[in-house]
Amino acid sequence: MELDRHALVAVIGAGTMGAGIAQAAAIAGHRVVVVDASEVALRRASDSVVASLTGSVARKRISENDARAILDRIGWSISLDDAEDALLVVEAIVEDLAAKGKLFRRLAALVRPAAILASNTSSLSIDALAAAVPSPERFIGLHFFNPAPVMKLVEVVAGRHTAPEVEQAATALMRAWGKRPVAVRDVPGFIVNRVARPYYAEGFTALAEGIAPEAIDRALTSCGGFRMGPLALADLIGHDVNYAVATSVFEGYDGRTRFRPQPAQQALVAEGRLGRKSGGGVYDGTEVPATRFAPPAPAPSIIQVSAAGGTSVKLFHEAGLVCHAQDALPYGTVKVDGVRFAMTDGRPLAVRDDVDALVDLARDFAVTNTIVLSARDERAAQAVAGLVQATGRSALVIADRPGMIVLRTLAQLANAAADAVADEVASVAAIDEAMTYGANHPEGPLHWAERAGTARVAAALRNISEATGDPIYRPAAVLARA
Ligand code: NAI
Repeated sequence: MELDRHALVAVIGAGTMGAGIAQAAAIAGHRVVVVDASEVALRRASDSVVASLTGSVARKRISENDARAILDRIGWSISLDDAEDALLVVEAIVEDLAAKGKLFRRLAALVRPAAILASNTSSLSIDALAAAVPSPERFIGLHFFNPAPVMKLVEVVAGRHTAPEVEQAATALMRAWGKRPVAVRDVPGFIVNRVARPYYAEGFTALAEGIAPEAIDRALTSCGGFRMGPLALADLIGHDVNYAVATSVFEGYDGRTRFRPQPAQQALVAEGRLGRKSGGGVYDGTEVPATRFAPPAPAPSIIQVSAAGGTSVKLFHEAGLVCHAQDALPYGTVKVDGVRFAMTDGRPLAVRDDVDALVDLARDFAVTNTIVLSARDERAAQAVAGLVQATGRSALVIADRPGMIVLRTLAQLANAAADAVADEVASVAAIDEAMTYGANHPEGPLHWAERAGTARVAAALRNISEATGDPIYRPAAVLARA
């Protein structure tokens, strides 16, 4: 079975996703017909494709001729009959099993027997949808991400009856479109909507504990390397939409604790604080307020480090700070003007008598401009802040909590990914690729765990689980074995 760029592609549903998918197909060289029940929707979709292509011309990504040719390849129709000759149909109508089922029954009778029927559903089961058609072997899930012309990831979801050659043809076609197709089992949330949950959940958990939203977002952008913090991102997505995804995944897994939605987000939805679109969500306006950092603290006088060094020593040297090696200090511990601190390993300060301050993880200490810390008292906070500031970075002081913010979020993302591996949702490589190209994470969660040391990540999760008493932090089997 071969689907080349001469094949007609039909996209049913001219909403946000349908318009984007049609544009992606036309850019790849296909003739495309977009069908929608509403003329208004078709006009809006056509306008949005024109606007998007005009933008690409302005940014000199494509020529004016290319833009015109792409537009000329797209036809718009209110009649499903115009999809008759399509060899690939991508459905992107409302997320409703009955409506989609009805549409697919009509399509199955209309298009050629060799045509592939695909759904862009985010939350419905591919097997349940395939049950609507008499030939489920040609049915498949092609889950695109918004904006579809830009986002590289496509989750390719083969159902129980999907023919291997249909999966292969669809995968090859997505590659020809310049996408990154990943094979996913037909499970609630597929990869991204399942594995990304802790990013938001950890943000809302910290918020519910009273940590300032700016501090949470700053920790994850600066130290975590994410493009947007979880709270600002949820404000952008809309809490109604984000909470609905969380709830749908939770229900899809019959209420497994790991996927429980966040009460703090539910409260925002109940108050109508849906995010930017409603004029406020976690943040009141459209701007994320500046973070409050520790005030300038005195420069450190005496820095002592463990004899074997540690991650931080290189940073101190680069900043021209003189460090004294001290055999008596355990590995990784630093003593600055009499205050001992170390990087968090998941245990809160409250249960540690070996240190007076903890520093949160950074994905890459060399590039972060902020260091997040918790301290037992003001003196400890000042000493560590002074050292952080002497390396040219800002110090962000937050309340003591197990695993702080960044380690806890990254560890929980790795935990969710490991749990998905154990559930045979997808391969390790596919999960990492999906999180990078579908959720814009700076690195795959399992690649990070490997780099950080899976045993260390598992130990941190055990410590967080013990300190919080919350089973959602228990390391998934794949990590626990490390
Ligand atoms: P939307 O609400 O923007 O567009 C849906 C369109 O389908 C509307 O224009 C509507 O007139 C049309 N429609 C409804 N029933 C129809 C029918 N029987 N025949 C023809 N047209 C019909 O929805 P959106 O956001 O584009 O989502 C579409 C699908 O894509 C859903 O299944 C959704 O779960 C999925 N999806 C959405 C993503 C997103 O970020 N919005 C991301 C990935 C998947």
